[in-house]
Amino acid sequence: MSNSPVVEPVQMQPISGDAANGQTAALPPHDVTDIGLADEGVRRIEWAEREMPVLRLIRERFQRERPLEGLRIGACLHVTTETANLMRTLKAGGAEVVLCASNPLSTKDDVAAALVARYGISTYARRGEDRDSYYAHLNAVADTHPQITMDDGCDMVSLLHKERPGQLSEILAGTEETTTGVIRLRAMAADGALTFPVVAVNEALTKHLFDNRYGTGQSTVDGILRATNILLAGRHVVIAGYGWVGRGIASRMHGMGAQVTIVEVDPVPAIEALMDGHQVMSGADAARWGEVFITATGNLNVFRREHFEVMRDGAILANSGHFDAELELAALAEMAAGRIREVRRDVQEYDLGDRKLYVVAEGRLVNLGAAEGHPAAVMDMSFAGQALSAEHVAKHHAELTNQVYTVPEEIDREIARLKLLALGIHIDAMTEEQVRYMASWEAGT
Ligand SMILES: NC(=O)c1ccc[n+]([C@@H]2O[C@H](COP(=O)([O-])OP(=O)(O)OC[C@H]3O[C@@H](n4cnc5c(N)ncnc54)[C@H](O)[C@@H]3O)[C@@H](O)[C@H]2O)c1
Repeated sequence: MSNSPVVEPVQMQPISGDAANGQTAALPPHDVTDIGLADEGVRRIEWAEREMPVLRLIRERFQRERPLEGLRIGACLHVTTETANLMRTLKAGGAEVVLCASNPLSTKDDVAAALVARYGISTYARRGEDRDSYYAHLNAVADTHPQITMDDGCDMVSLLHKERPGQLSEILAGTEETTTGVIRLRAMAADGALTFPVVAVNEALTKHLFDNRYGTGQSTVDGILRATNILLAGRHVVIAGYGWVGRGIASRMHGMGAQVTIVEVDPVPAIEALMDGHQVMSGADAARWGEVFITATGNLNVFRREHFEVMRDGAILANSGHFDAELELAALAEMAAGRIREVRRDVQEYDLGDRKLYVVAEGRLVNLGAAEGHPAAVMDMSFAGQALSAEHVAKHHAELTNQVYTVPEEIDREIARLKLLALGIHIDAMTEEQVRYMASWEAGT
């Protein structure tokens, strides 16, 4: 990582567009695949925006109140249409925002181009970038000396702590989007290594109940279908991990008519899976039974050599957990002895001699690698959490210590309230009598 190549940002070409508000502007520093894709990116970002009313309301307030005025935010997130709308919101709040990808395969190149050319946001992301470019892009963001970090998977926080300790004192606070990132941050805090407070946006109810479950559920099915175009009805689908993500994928697969089996290591979600109507098996048994395998654990080598050895011909493997470590692809490549080829876009065939196995999106998060990630309506709440958490740490960082914080309950409730408002859905309030009843201990049978 330390010998990452330096990115030479392309800059200073005159443009006019939304970013310039009608005036001539220069492109901010960037490294994207093709700036010419900006128009398509703008169209798709605006389409996503229609589904993000909560974030739009926040952006309008941010424009008036400028709660992030002058703050430098270094973001490492999936470069998607929804992220673009978050970046616009932070910028409207007065922040100087710089963005890089949080995964080498999840970048939408048209979005990256639009961010630079139309919204004036410095962006470092190319779909399919190699490991060196990935870290060079992270370093390009770190070079701007962010005061607030915004991560999806903790790579920015980790880089700053491991390789750029001199900068740590400049950082006021951070935010973190996903389960795997929160796990890494809690490990850092437990070691006493974390040097600034971080808000775990993932822990907000308005995030993981909807994003991890319904967002990943739908978009994982979407990714597998776009890549393979298989029929799911009647298919044997094995899902490893029955957390928020696993539950969502399982319910969506069941809804498409698949037969679902869950592999777990924790007895509680295993029982939950059973009572939700799925089969539960050991990994060894499921390996023989399954036709499609999806990992969603945040763990390492969940399906590995011993499982590949018994999987049936034509089995399809995909991962929806944060890192590409959930499938032991090095072992699979060894078993295939170089007989690996791309048979469709985002589908690699591993020829084991007697059988062929298929890996979708190189084992990276399939919903972002082979599809567009979560639908915008779900990211509306997740990114409302990001925007409001950024505002919260901008205001309160001095009162926070170097720990991982959950999103304040009032922010969580406000996001849900705004979402219902935007959807035109009304809920009830308790009567005064009910409030008194709920607060009393004397009333009984
Ligand atoms: N693809 C996406 O867009 C997306 C979205 C949200 C979260 N994520 C990622 O998905 C992963 C899971 O997130 P979550 O919120 O569901 O986490 P979670 O903690 O709610 O659930 C993980 C589950 O995996 C189980 N597990 C752990 N090791 C296992 C093993 N070896 N075999 C079988 N089961 C095992 C755990 O017992 C737990 O029930 C994380 O890496 C998270 O960052 C991805």
